[in-house]
Amino acid sequence: MKFELPELPYAYDFLEPVIDEKTMEIHHSKHHATYVNNLNAALEKYPEIDFKCPGQLMRNINDIPADIKQAVINNGGGHVNHSLFWKSLTSPDTSKFEGDIKEKIDSDLGGYDKFVELFTAAATTRFGSGWAWLVINKDGKLEVVSTLNQDSPLMENKRPLLGLDVWEHAYYLNYQNRRPDYIKEFFRIINWDVVNDRLEHAKNCECSR
Ligand SMILES: [Fe+2]
Repeated sequence: MKFELPELPYAYDFLEPVIDEKTMEIHHSKHHATYVNNLNAALEKYPEIDFKCPGQLMRNINDIPADIKQAVINNGGGHVNHSLFWKSLTSPDTSKFEGDIKEKIDSDLGGYDKFVELFTAAATTRFGSGWAWLVINKDGKLEVVSTLNQDSPLMENKRPLLGLDVWEHAYYLNYQNRRPDYIKEFFRIINWDVVNDRLEHAKNCECSR
C-alpha cells in the first residue's frame, strides 16, 4: 500500500499566533510530505508488507526487515507522529480541559498543573530532536514521556494521546532558539476533544486517531 500525506483539518494560519502560517506550511507540505515519500520508497522493496495504517505499521516495527527497519522507524514514525500532531491542535484558547481526560490526569498524574510541569520538562530536556508525549501505557495508566528523533511511542506498546514536536523545524522561524517559549504557548492550542476521543478509543483501535 502507499501512504499519503493527509490534508490538514484547518488552514495554515489557524494556529496563529502560537504557530505561524509559514512554519505550518513548510512543516506540513515539505517535512511531513518527505517522511511519507521516504516511507513509501523504503517499503517499495517489500510489497507484501501491508498494514492498514501507519499506526499499525509502527506497532509491528519488529516484523519489518532489518535492511529497511531504521528507514521505517524514521519515516513511518515521522508520518504517524505528524498526523497525530496536526489533529491535536486547535485555535488558541478555544478548547476546554474537561471530560474523561481531566479525571484521568487528576488520578494518574496529580492534576493539570502537574501534567504541565511533567510535559514541559519532557519537551525541554529532550536533547536535539524529538517529541514529548502524553501516552497510555500497557497497564492503562497515563505517562508523560519523550522520544528521540521520530521514534513513536507505538513501538513500545504505548498509545499516544498528545504529542509535541520539538524539532527545530517545528518552531525556529518564529521562536528561533527559544524552545521553552514555544512549549509554553503549546498548551493554548491543545484540542482536548481530540485527546478525549483518543482516550476513549485507546483500547480498541488498531490505529492512532
Ligand atoms: Fe516535525
